[in-house]
Amino acid sequence: MRDRETLPRTAVGLDHWTARPGWSCVVGYDGDQPVGYAYGAPLPEGARWWGGLLTDVPADVTAETGIRTFALSELMVRTPWRKTGAACLLHSALLSPRREERATLLVDQTHPKVHALYESWGWRTLGGLRPRLADAPTFHAMLLPLPQASSY
Ligand SMILES: CC(C)(COP(=O)(O)OP(=O)(O)OC[C@H]1O[C@@H](n2cnc3c(N)ncnc32)[C@H](O)[C@@H]1OP(=O)(O)O)[C@@H](O)C(=O)NCCC(=O)NCCS
Repeated sequence: MRDRETLPRTAVGLDHWTARPGWSCVVGYDGDQPVGYAYGAPLPEGARWWGGLLTDVPADVTAETGIRTFALSELMVRTPWRKTGAACLLHSALLSPRREERATLLVDQTHPKVHALYESWGWRTLGGLRPRLADAPTFHAMLLPLPQASSY
């Protein structure tokens, strides 16, 4: 078994996310070939997610209840299936069953084309965000209203 120090960053991130209550993942296939995946989890009450927000917003915008916001942590499509619509399908498959009122994601500010892609899918930018971690990049924090919001 490898200790956490020697695991690739993506594996540590995956461990962290899969342990969260409500974690959900979709994997797309083209025949027997895996095409890509998307996963995320609801933000817990008092989530640290918003801690590095660089933009002033009213407190209620970032108030988390545990059932308000689904965080899209990862979306990845293998190169041969990019520009085929697979990414949008995975995104929809993950988010369409969700009952939270909104989704959030962070996109690296040095990836303007990915930012524009999310905007084309209806996401809006809340502001800049830099997680309070050493060497963290600066992100655009984005929000997307979810249509199936439930009052639980
Ligand atoms: C993001 C992703 C799922 C979108 O797939 P898609 O809808 O098929 O769209 P594309 O792959 O054509 O990406 C759109 C544009 O963003 C660019 N882009 C994609 N991922 C990028 C990244 N990680 N860094 C910089 N640019 C990126 C692409 O080069 C493309 O630019 P182009 O139109 O000039 O060719 C796919 O590109 C991907 O898996 N990227 C790597 C993982 C990633 O960055 N995920 C998003 C994390 S927030």
